[in-house]
Amino acid sequence: MEIVEEIRKFVEEECKKKVNYFGYGIWAHHIIYVVKYAKLMAKRVGANEEIVEIAALLHDYASVKDYKLYEDHHLHGAELAEQILKKYNYPLNKIEKVKHCILSHRGSKIISKLTKESLCVVDADSMAHFDSIPSLFYLAFFSHKMNINEANNWLIQKLERSWNKLSPEAKEVIKAKFEAARVLLK
Ligand SMILES: [Fe+2]
Repeated sequence: MEIVEEIRKFVEEECKKKVNYFGYGIWAHHIIYVVKYAKLMAKRVGANEEIVEIAALLHDYASVKDYKLYEDHHLHGAELAEQILKKYNYPLNKIEKVKHCILSHRGSKIISKLTKESLCVVDADSMAHFDSIPSLFYLAFFSHKMNINEANNWLIQKLERSWNKLSPEAKEVIKAKFEAARVLLK
């Protein structure tokens, strides 16, 4: 089986496990959209699609594996990705590129210069919010215990923050959804 398919199956199975604090929803309502947008961006900017897809699949894996790793899940995630990919004999130079994407996906605290590939994952992590509005409402009502107005305001602010983080290329892709959300969530 192709490496990307192996990693896809692996991450989905990990998301199904009981120890996953977020539940299967992190796969169904977040990771699959991050993968979708990361690949789309890779095509648009000419980044390496395989690196980008593997990094998108693994970018939140540390917090799925163990919620205690959440705070630094970019650091742990990069280490875990290395261990996993080495088991598949993935080339070391490509492992480094995947690690770079995972390390830099939470702002650029440690990494100042983003590669084309990391930019795709950073953009996709924010773009994914525009495909998961129902699950964001679920989070607002059931986890954050918000009322309808609070949830509405929280969501529009969250989407505005996500929008502001996007690269010009990603904004082009997401513009129609952002504008629709602004009309509906006024
Ligand atoms: Fe994420």
